[in-house]
Amino acid sequence: MTASELRRKYITFFESKGHARIQGKSLLPDNDPTVLFTTAGMHPLVPYLLGQEHPAGQRLVNSQKCIRTGDIESVGDPSHLTFFEMLGNWSLGDYFKEGAIEMSFEFLTDPRWLGIPVEKLGVTVFSGELGIPRDDESAAIWRRLGIPENRIAYLPRADNWWGPAGSAGPCGPDTEMFYYTGDAPCGPECKPGCACGKWLEIWNNVFMQYNKNSAGEYEPLARKCVDTGMGVERVVAILNGKASVYETEFFAGLLKAVEAASGHVYGTDEDRDSSARILCEHARASTFILGDPRAVSPSNVGAGYVLRRLLRRALRHASKLGIDGSGGPVLSPLARLLAEETRDDWPELGENIERIAEELDREEKKFLETLQKGEREFEKLLPGLMKNPRRVMSGRLAFKLYDTYGFPVELTEELARENGLSVDSAEFDEAFRKHQETSRAGVGVFKGGLVDSGDAALRYHTATHLLHQALRQVLGTHVAQKGSNITAERMRFDFAHPAPMTETEIASVQAIVNEQIARDLPVSHQSMSLDAAKESGAIALFGEKYEDVVKVYSIGEGESLFAREVCGGPHAPSTGALGKFTIQKEQSSSAGVRRIRAVLE
Ligand code: ALA
Repeated sequence: MTASELRRKYITFFESKGHARIQGKSLLPDNDPTVLFTTAGMHPLVPYLLGQEHPAGQRLVNSQKCIRTGDIESVGDPSHLTFFEMLGNWSLGDYFKEGAIEMSFEFLTDPRWLGIPVEKLGVTVFSGELGIPRDDESAAIWRRLGIPENRIAYLPRADNWWGPAGSAGPCGPDTEMFYYTGDAPCGPECKPGCACGKWLEIWNNVFMQYNKNSAGEYEPLARKCVDTGMGVERVVAILNGKASVYETEFFAGLLKAVEAASGHVYGTDEDRDSSARILCEHARASTFILGDPRAVSPSNVGAGYVLRRLLRRALRHASKLGIDGSGGPVLSPLARLLAEETRDDWPELGENIERIAEELDREEKKFLETLQKGEREFEKLLPGLMKNPRRVMSGRLAFKLYDTYGFPVELTEELARENGLSVDSAEFDEAFRKHQETSRAGVGVFKGGLVDSGDAALRYHTATHLLHQALRQVLGTHVAQKGSNITAERMRFDFAHPAPMTETEIASVQAIVNEQIARDLPVSHQSMSLDAAKESGAIALFGEKYEDVVKVYSIGEGESLFAREVCGGPHAPSTGALGKFTIQKEQSSSAGVRRIRAVLE
């Protein structure tokens, strides 16, 4: 079965169960201060999981591109990827545990759908923690459907809980489905988590019953929801009898191309094979990030830093395979191949391929210089480091390599590891933080997490709409939002505009926003078709994919209407609550894009 067949089956199955198909969103979330990338299909749905009505109804299904870098060290093993496609179905206050588990079981095992033999399946359920009891209800449903008790593992929060990493958001216990990648479970007690290591997680059903509020307390949600996620690459692998995602359509062509470029015959040396896998995986993830409508460029902060890290790690593994760039660019040919191979499923790659290739070539050139310098410096330090009895490289030294030569700490760590050393990463983080504070560049958000819909974030979100409209009035309607980033303390807003703003322009924009705040305009929203939204004059983000029915937020009404934008919300109820708006900085963000930093006081 191919990925497109699997996707089609999944969507058709859930449509037949009353779900409406919604569009997958950008890999780079809009207005979510807590994550750099969309890490699961539920991210764009957070406001609805928290109780807002979704225009498409209470049962939804989609396919979502995801990036997760938390497991980057595991990339290269048979199943971990930084980029993957997630299929998901949601219940917004409709079915709960029974409905979700029954549908998952039917889709996985019924011969009309995936037809996986029940003997190959095992599941995990939440074992109970923090005053929340063991999920016996889910276990009983699985047993009734035919999963025997000896294939059900009860695991704690670390395994069977899904929700915010450190910040607020909807969350709850989950039940995960696993496939046995060996011939048959290794013994009567072999279940997910068994030391044989052959159980592969393929699907997760999260039962969202709580909202973790900003004080860290778990409040029961008024409306219980279900959030699920199935990993496409893994399921395609198992359905084709492969234990590794690298033995499938996703990587066959890329690995062949790396074989041709390096002369390394795949399958003949585990270390080199692993480098080939890392190179292909990171090249694929980077191509998807650069091909996104909201693409970022490699940089030293936020999502741009993650992209830079992926690219640089890919290049280092290329160099381990003997591909050093002397025969021409390494990454852009892989990106071109991927765009060609996936043109039916992901046309955005082909449409943006020239820009993608240009960015890759530029970063590659820069990094080759950095790499040579950094490796030379590391070599110089090595004899001294080897004398250290604890075999630890100080974070201060690692920071110096980063600060002076731009040598990424992850690569220092890898070089250190290859020489039997470790790096004091706490000390590095400390030095990095201090540096960021002094340079006031802002570190960005590195950890996963969910939307913080606290009051401050709501006020800033509403302010982005005011600012967007004010900029269009002062500078012209070519101004289009390119991204935004909100924390409880400030907002950043990126927009297309070819030149720096003058002081007068900045002052006018600021005055217009403050005028709307003084008018205390009501903020309201309506659902309508995308065409009707555009007709009503609502701004929609260029290049973003929308559902057929969208939400339109209006600030002001009738004669007082000031701004109207297609947006998922949530927002402050009226502009009077926003406070005084001050633009602190206006600067370049990338070619043709300006960035404003502003605060509400
Ligand atoms: N959000 C859940 C996950 O990513 C389904 O596993």
